[in-house]
Amino acid sequence: MTEKGLRLKHITAADMDDLLALEHLCFSRPWTAASFLAELLAETACHLGIEKNTEPAGENFFLTAYLFFRVIADEMQIMKIAVRPAHRGQGIASLLLGAGIQQARQAGAAASFLEVRSSNTAALAFYTGQGFRQIGIRKDYYPGSKSAEREDALLLMKNLKEGL
Ligand SMILES: CC(C)(COP(=O)(O)OP(=O)(O)OC[C@H]1O[C@@H](n2cnc3c(N)ncnc32)[C@H](O)[C@@H]1OP(=O)(O)O)[C@@H](O)C(=O)NCCC(=O)NCCS
Repeated sequence: MTEKGLRLKHITAADMDDLLALEHLCFSRPWTAASFLAELLAETACHLGIEKNTEPAGENFFLTAYLFFRVIADEMQIMKIAVRPAHRGQGIASLLLGAGIQQARQAGAAASFLEVRSSNTAALAFYTGQGFRQIGIRKDYYPGSKSAEREDALLLMKNLKEGL
C-alpha cells in the first residue's frame, strides 16, 4: 500500500476530529462523536482507516477513509465505510474492505452482512463488485436522507469462505 502513498491504520478515539470531519463530508445524516465513541469502545468492534500522504514521498499522512465493522460469532457485520470524496474511484474502499475481510476471517467470520440505503447506487455498485448479493429488504428502515419520507434498507451478504 505504501507505494500508492497510502497506509493502513487502526482507528482510536484520538482520531475523533478527523473521523467527524470525514463523516460530515460523506454522509447527509452523520454519526455524532457519541456514536463513534460507542462503536470504538464496543467489545466486538473493529475499526480500520487508510491514511494518505500529502506528497508522494513525504511523511505527512491524513485520514482519507475508514471502515467500521463488528465480528460477532462467525459473522462480520459492516457498520459503515467511507472514502473522502476527492479520493474516490482510486480503489481505496476496495483496499480497506479487503483488509477488513482478512481481519474478520482471522477472527472466525464465515459471512459478511450489511444494510445499505436503496438509493445509494455508488455503495450498491461497490458492494456488488466486491461479491456481495442482496438477500433481503427492510422496508422504511432509514429516515429519509433529505425528505421526511423513510427509505428501505437492502440487506447484502457475502460468503467469506468462497475463494479461499
Ligand atoms: C461507496 C464508497 C465507499 C466507494 O469508495 P471508492 O474508494 O470510490 O471505491 P473503489 O474505488 O474501491 O471502487 C471499486 C469499485 O466499486 C464500484 N464503484 C465505486 N463507486 C462507484 C460509483 N460512484 N458508481 C458506480 N460504481 C462505483 C466500481 O465498480 C469500482 O470499480 P472501478 O473503479 O474499477 O469501476 C464511496 O463512494 C463512499 O465513501 N461513499 C459515501 C459513503 C457511503 O455511502 N458508504 C457506504 C454505506 S455505509
